[in-house]
Formats: sequence, C-alpha cells, structure tokens
Amino acid sequence: MEELSLLWILSAMSLLCCSTNQVHLTMSPSFSQLFEDDSLSLSCEEDDGSSGWTLKRNTTKRQRTQCGFGWGRRAGSSCTISLTVPWDSGVYWCESRDGSTSNSITITVTGGAVILQSPVLPVMEGHDVFLHCQTKTPPSNPSAKFFKDGVFIGTEPTGHMTIHHVTKSDEGLYKCHISSHGESPPSWIYVTEKPTTISPPPLTSAAPLQSTTSLESTLSTTSTTPLHPWFRLILHLVVFCPYFISTVLVVSLYRHRPTVSMASGTQDFDKAVVVSTVHHF
Ligand SMILES: *[C@@H]1O[C@H](CO)[C@@H](O)[C@H](O)[C@H]1NC(C)=O
Repeated sequence: MEELSLLWILSAMSLLCCSTNQVHLTMSPSFSQLFEDDSLSLSCEEDDGSSGWTLKRNTTKRQRTQCGFGWGRRAGSSCTISLTVPWDSGVYWCESRDGSTSNSITITVTGGAVILQSPVLPVMEGHDVFLHCQTKTPPSNPSAKFFKDGVFIGTEPTGHMTIHHVTKSDEGLYKCHISSHGESPPSWIYVTEKPTTISPPPLTSAAPLQSTTSLESTLSTTSTTPLHPWFRLILHLVVFCPYFISTVLVVSLYRHRPTVSMASGTQDFDKAVVVSTVHHF
C-alpha cells in the first residue's frame, strides 16, 4: 500500500530527527590510570553534533566542578588537562544545561611508580581486554603479577595480559604489581552485555564478593540512563509527538484527496489510519 509506506517514511523521519539526544563521554588516552604529569583529553560527543554540554567532575576535594573553572582547558565540548596531578583523580561526566548527564568515567592519577593500563570505558562481552602493567621508569624486569578483586590471577613476563572473550564474570577491580617498583592503584573493568532485546537487567542470584554491592551501585551510575521499559514507553509517547504530527499530516492528505467514497466512509477510513498508526508504534 502506497499510503502506508508514506506513513512509515514520515514516522521514521520524525523518529530520526527527534530521538532523545544522547551524549557520550570519551577520553584519550582511553585508560583508567595515568601517571602524574601525563596529559589527558576528554570530550562530550553527541549524536547530533551540538555542543550544549559541559564536562564536570567529582574529586575527593570538590564536587561538581566544571572544566575551565580551576582545572582543565576547555575547547568546545572537549577538555584538556596538560599536566595531571593526583587530585585530578575522580569521576568525570558531561552535563547539559537541563541537567541530563552522560555516562561517567573514573580516572586515577598516581604519583606512584606503577599504573595498570586498563580500558576506562565498559568492554563489550566477547571482546578481548588488554592490560599493561606499566612503570614510570623502564623496569629492569617487566614481569608483572595481576590481581582481580584482590585475588592473584597470573604472572606475565612481559607485563602484558590479555583476557580473551570477556564475560560478565570478568568484571571487577584489577591491579598489578611489579617487583622493585611496586603496586598500581586498583581500577574497575566493566563488561557490558551484548545488546539483545530491551528487557530489565537480570537479577544476580549469587553475590560471593563483598564488593558486589558497590559494583552494582557504581554500574548503575556508569551505564547510560537505565530506563524501565514502561518509563521508556511513556518517554517515547511524550518525546515523539512529531510522530503524531505526521499522522495528522497523513490524515489531512487523505482529506484533500478527491473523495471517491461517501462522506461517512471517508471518515471511517481516517479513523482506520489513526488506529493503524498507533498500532505500528
Ligand atoms: C558528584 O557529587 C555529587 C555531590 O556529592 C553527587 O550528588 C553526584 O552523584 C556525584 N556524581 C557522580 C557521577 O559521582
């Protein structure tokens, strides 16, 4: 049906143009830990390219401070810290004027001699994770011990460890140790489940580690706005009113068509269009 495809095109267009504007915080280098005096660049990347977002952070000293005000140099929606100091450690996120927030990332800057290079953003289930236990000055022996949730998981003579095909169970707090140099700070590695269908997150049955609760609370702040399906539905209903405008448009198109049937018949047809629109939504 020609009319129905027109309806689909219109609704698809309204969905594309007016979908909720998501922002993502990315970091370069994309590692959780840095040595003091390293440089760091963060940016708020939006789907539609506008830049009404500011980068904010919480540190142990001050909360909700904005890039360019006491720390960092702002350029558009990016923020650069040229020489990091340990008190740059904290949680960073992007925030719009209306208060909506992006994913948040946790950065640790150490004045110590060892860092663990681990991904700052969540890793997709099934992907490999590369860890590098790095020292500030070249080590005489790069051999490193790796730990997850305080438990020794292996020694790597090169200081590099690869975790193949990660699963949710690989999620945890990692650190490493190089003898004669010391230990790195700990950092979380998050694993995101492969996107399948929109369903509420599964409830974890077993909680063997004491840290599980804190992990879950951290995860809920880290993930991008976890919404209840019903709430999503309501949000879509409210946000995607252009969809309904397009429906009205289509209905009016029908009105302006030369009527071949009787007046009462046309009216019924209009109703049918509205009903089918709601149904396809
Ligand atoms: C930052 O700190 C404020 C105030 O303590 C708190 O409400 C907020 O949740 C924190 N944000 C993040 C992302 O941790």
